[in-house]
Amino acid sequence: VLAIWHQLTKTEIPELAKCSVLMRERSRVEETIHAMQRAGAGNLQVISDFDMTLTRFAHNGKRVPTTHNILDNRLLINEDCTKKIRALLNTYYPIEIDPSRSAEEKLPLMVEWWTKVHELLIEQRIRKDMLAQAVKESSAMLRDGYKVFFDHLAEQRIPLLIFSAGVGDVLEEVIQQNHVFHPNVHIISNYMDFDQTGVLRAFKGQLIHTFNKREGALSHAAGLTELQGRPNVLLLGDSLGDLTMADGVSEHENILTIGFLNDQVEERKESYINSFDIVLVKDETMDVPNAVLRHIT
Ligand code: C5P
Ligand code: MG
Repeated sequence: VLAIWHQLTKTEIPELAKCSVLMRERSRVEETIHAMQRAGAGNLQVISDFDMTLTRFAHNGKRVPTTHNILDNRLLINEDCTKKIRALLNTYYPIEIDPSRSAEEKLPLMVEWWTKVHELLIEQRIRKDMLAQAVKESSAMLRDGYKVFFDHLAEQRIPLLIFSAGVGDVLEEVIQQNHVFHPNVHIISNYMDFDQTGVLRAFKGQLIHTFNKREGALSHAAGLTELQGRPNVLLLGDSLGDLTMADGVSEHENILTIGFLNDQVEERKESYINSFDIVLVKDETMDVPNAVLRHIT
């Protein structure tokens, strides 16, 4: 039976045969895909990270900005603030992706990073009405094939939960400007709190960083009624911390996880293969998620 499945997946999802696609247990992936296909679109939900998962990691050899880095624009912050935020990125990003440190070890350092950056942003008195222009001027870029991904999920009425440790207001503007902020899209992220004159004064709610998504999933996602009664989950992420995004799904049946391995490939390959069902190495496209979705819905 496994041999037939293998053949099926090879011919029906040729994207999975590409050499940039790594799987620890191909047969488990195939079984999960077939179980999801049998259950159909009505039983499926998609949970995805945003920065470096739905957006590209690099384009023409240059890093694509995260939602935080889109704010690095003179319309919003001054030069001194840019320098400070860049210095923090240079200190903490290597820690975030360091394969030799555990998530527990990284956690307090991530809180430190996000807290410092948010404090700097608040000091700049960022104006809400300037955000759209900053996104327009940025080189923010969704992965190739993003439109097929978002449009297909909307047409099939499959809820898409975007779970981001980035800045929610910026994230919304990015998907709006790309014309894919469809009604099936739900977002959990760090949202800005503006005063009555439209000036940033705080961030709302509990801080979300790369390694506390489980808490966010339990407190927010579990309450989203649109996600109820959909026991099959396609999860997309680029960080090992993203794997906990589905922890709020009660009575889940099949979970298929796809991890984008963008950076520090050799150092992190083993841990990604051991953690995600499918690992995509330096793949700037949505081709594999799109192919899996086309097959199961
Ligand atoms: O959407 P996602 O959860 O991926 O957003 C978080 C990402 O934003 C992190 O992976 C981190 O590298 C990046 N980040 C950043 N600047 C910050 C904080 C986080 O670029 N100040
Ligand atoms: Mg990410």
